[in-house]
Amino acid sequence: MDSIKFDYSKICNFVTKEEMIALYPEARQALKSLKEGTGKGSDFLGWLNLPVEITSEQLADIEKTAAELRARTQVMVVIGIGGSYLGARAVIEALADSFHNYENTGMKVIFAGHNIGEDYYHELIHYLQNKEFGICVISKSGTTTEPAIAFRLLKELLEAKVGKEEAGKRIVAITDASKGALRTLADQEGYKTFVIPDNVGGRFSVLTPVGLLPIAIAGFDIKELVQGAIEMRKACIDDEKSIALEYAVARTALYRKGYAVELLANFNPKLHYITEWWKQLYGESEGKANKGIFPAGVDFTTDLHSMGQYIQQGVRMLMETVISVGKPHYQVQIPSDAANLDKLNFLAGKRVDEVNKMAELGTQIAHVDGGVPNMKVCMPALTAQYIGQLFYFFELACGISGSMLGVNPFDQPGVEAYKNNMFALLD
Ligand code: PA5
Repeated sequence: MDSIKFDYSKICNFVTKEEMIALYPEARQALKSLKEGTGKGSDFLGWLNLPVEITSEQLADIEKTAAELRARTQVMVVIGIGGSYLGARAVIEALADSFHNYENTGMKVIFAGHNIGEDYYHELIHYLQNKEFGICVISKSGTTTEPAIAFRLLKELLEAKVGKEEAGKRIVAITDASKGALRTLADQEGYKTFVIPDNVGGRFSVLTPVGLLPIAIAGFDIKELVQGAIEMRKACIDDEKSIALEYAVARTALYRKGYAVELLANFNPKLHYITEWWKQLYGESEGKANKGIFPAGVDFTTDLHSMGQYIQQGVRMLMETVISVGKPHYQVQIPSDAANLDKLNFLAGKRVDEVNKMAELGTQIAHVDGGVPNMKVCMPALTAQYIGQLFYFFELACGISGSMLGVNPFDQPGVEAYKNNMFALLD
């Protein structure tokens, strides 16, 4: 089985082998407490076994619903925020054509409910006016403000356009089994629904219908995605030296030496939303009790021309984890140019990816020389299977690393603060 790999050999100038070895017993204890459900937040460990517990009937139901929605619509609006949105977007953006959006799969999937921008909604309503569209509304609590506002707006538009009965067939709700306003409304209106398990928190929910239905609607292979997660689970769950354990140990060792910010970097623009998903996973899981590594993201080489200066020479508090994709799907060669004004004819005949790979290597050397410890997660290619592996790898490492930090990695009490103020200000 080919698999993603983790390489932390380039942190040896920053953390000694002894310092790393000393952390393994703690990491193994953290893994044990996750598996036995004895640590903090143990009510929310459903994600650990999701890949092996999802049944072929459940996957078939998701695929059937996706096919029905695709037959009725040309655009699906996926409404959700945070964990109810980022996983699906991460997979869809990673696998879709960059310019034909998702239309290369015969379906366009767009997102709403992840902001409260008035112009965004004006433009969205205008865009949808003449489209055959449907809605996939996702909220575990069923009471989150941003998706609730978006759903009000788009439900009204859809019902006015196609009538209440047809609208009811184009709306799917993914929410709690029994609680929350969205559950009540979905039951009242008779929408098709999927359940988010009680013991799976939003940011760990990509392998539930929350992620799987939008991904299936966009036309990508959810079985392959789940298969990847199964493979990574098998490789890591009982292994006391797994790559998930190594990653948790490496970043914890660096954090304890004062590296308080982790940059997740990529050299492939399709990975931008994988980074956004990762930022939520680690930020919400670890940033509490005045502790935790601050997760940040950079897209290279783009951001080497903006953030590159800071990374090279700013405050030495950064560690960097690069997601490196082995093989692109296509080949593009750099042409020769008779005038050669840019003096780049020495690159003629080379593949664009060869230049990209040298940029990646050159950046790694420069950053390590400049005092930024560098780790690498290597994906053989950007496919649903390897993304499934990557999700499980990061989730398990997050559970271990959060436990090593001494926090509850599965709650997010701090998120309430802005909501309380907003509602008080709105009277
Ligand atoms: O990880 C989490 O639990 C949160 O980020 C939620 O996913 C996010 O706030 C959306 O919540 P809900 O699905 O209840 O609308």
